[in-house]
Amino acid sequence: MDKIPLGVIEEIKERNDIVELAGRYTTLKRRGSTYTGLCPFHSEKTPSFTVYPSNGSFYCFGCGVGGDMISFVMRAENLTYPEALSALAERAGVNLSAYSRDGDEERYVSRKRIFEMNRDAARFYRDRLFDEREGAAAREYLTSRGLSQEVIKRFGLGYAPGGSRLFSHLRSLGYKSEEMTAGFLCREYGEGGNKTIRDLFFNRVMFPIINTSGNVIAFGGRVMNNEGSPKYLNSSDTPAFKKSSNLYALNFAKDSSADSLILCEGYMDVIALHASGISNAVATLGTALTQEQARIIAKYTKRVIINYDSDEAGQRAASRAIGLLEDVGLDVRVLKLKGAKDPDEYIKKFGVDSFRDALDESSTKFSYVASKIMSEYDMESESDRISAAKRMNEYIAGVSSSVEREIYIHQASELTGISEESIKSDISLIIKKKAASKKKSDREKLILDSSGYGDRINRDKLKTLRAASCEEALLGIMLAFPEYIRSAAEGADGAPTRKDFRTEFGGRVFEKLVEVYKENGFFDLSALTPDFSLDEMSRLTKLMQGRDGLDNSESVFADMTAALRRENERVSAKNMDAIDAIMRLRRKNTGDDPKHTEG
Ligand code: GTP
Ligand code: MN
Repeated sequence: MDKIPLGVIEEIKERNDIVELAGRYTTLKRRGSTYTGLCPFHSEKTPSFTVYPSNGSFYCFGCGVGGDMISFVMRAENLTYPEALSALAERAGVNLSAYSRDGDEERYVSRKRIFEMNRDAARFYRDRLFDEREGAAAREYLTSRGLSQEVIKRFGLGYAPGGSRLFSHLRSLGYKSEEMTAGFLCREYGEGGNKTIRDLFFNRVMFPIINTSGNVIAFGGRVMNNEGSPKYLNSSDTPAFKKSSNLYALNFAKDSSADSLILCEGYMDVIALHASGISNAVATLGTALTQEQARIIAKYTKRVIINYDSDEAGQRAASRAIGLLEDVGLDVRVLKLKGAKDPDEYIKKFGVDSFRDALDESSTKFSYVASKIMSEYDMESESDRISAAKRMNEYIAGVSSSVEREIYIHQASELTGISEESIKSDISLIIKKKAASKKKSDREKLILDSSGYGDRINRDKLKTLRAASCEEALLGIMLAFPEYIRSAAEGADGAPTRKDFRTEFGGRVFEKLVEVYKENGFFDLSALTPDFSLDEMSRLTKLMQGRDGLDNSESVFADMTAALRRENERVSAKNMDAIDAIMRLRRKNTGDDPKHTEG
């Protein structure tokens, strides 16, 4: 097996539910956002085995075994890494043979080939849509959604009849079955001798996804009139497509003259906006915004306006997106539309001028947070206003830029009617308290972490107890919050470097994290599974789980980096002292006193 791109591994993991998978070996009970059960890897009476669906990992607090989904299958089924990955890929219907180059050149599918095939498929879908008879229902559907012929053509929309129509067409153009399955256009059904191959998109209107170089990289297909499910079927990752690092309509939006990008949830939202002359709209491809997408956005603009659906799910996704977008230095605003569920519906109902007005009033992150807080209180009541102000102050205290804090303090004062002075003093009190409790908890954590003694995984730990503890703390934070891997990979000021790591294990992990990030532009725990033993994976998961609740990761990370450097300096100074002492001893024994030999 060639190296499988991390995006494909993510896709495989996404299509296999870790809770369901682990649930075949033990009964899992939901506990908040995690699941717990009796550990399948050691015998116990009270459940300490925990599954974390949020990052696709598991960890047993009883026996210390942990890892990602792939290491779970390796352990549970006693499989090697490639065996476990293949088993999961098969369950997910992902074709890995496209990545197998060794001795099987025939089946290897290149990006270029997939681009060509996708372009041919897009033409086929478009021709079906404009076919008098065949495309009638699809044309009617698109028209009912308000799309003009011109817009349909601009976005290259089409219609997929299904069956094996596309398959036959592509075969007549010389494409092989393997290419079609690897490109997520067709799929094999059935087993052994009964295998047949058919189109993947069946009776759907088709949205080609085009990258900034103009290549058709994937498709989204929507059912018509809400008959059938899923509503949208999107291409999964292929050798030519990574869902997490592309945005719908960026090929058009990048040329827009606007000084911002508008981030929407749906294809139809983007199309409706472009059709109304707002050509700086983009959307993610059916998943939550990723760090990579945030970085891509930052490449094209300084300001982004999040315009997600106004329902609760949309607003939750918006809150999450804010953080990712701010992390890459973007000026983030949020546009929450009133009276319509999404931008598409809003424009239909109220017109584009009203949308533009709303856009101008789109709020900064603080006013978004503040309005959310205020909606939970009765702002007419004095005591409620004080409580609301307290919540706002908590938020403002967490903002690192003092200029920004200044502006928010002013706004908070206006909103709550409480004087700026008292808000200010409240905030500086919160900041002081936070700093004090952080110091205490850092110390406690360090002591706890250092108690591992006689360490089988990190063999140098005993020799360099303090440095090793700092290293592990840093790695834990990096694993739990990959934005710190990014700063290390980009050599950001104050970020740790390879030479800060003294233990063999720590250095090896650090190197790998940076390498994975540089190669993929993002990080996933599963990128480590091929290179680390199952026991090492367990340790890494432990370090990660120990950190994911940390709310002051930034300062802990900086403190730990500084502590590690101090420790390294101290040790090397001690070593110098020891060398000096040895030298003095030698001189004494040989009578080789420099004072007398010099000159
Ligand atoms: P319309 O109902 O046509 O207006 O869709 P929309 O563009 O408003 O999309 P919606 O808000 O329902 O969903 C947002 C995006 O999520 C879509 O553009 C798709 O990319 C994706 N999506 C929606 N439904 C599904 C689904 O059933 N499966 C998958 N994989 N993605 C979906
Ligand atoms: Mn919609």
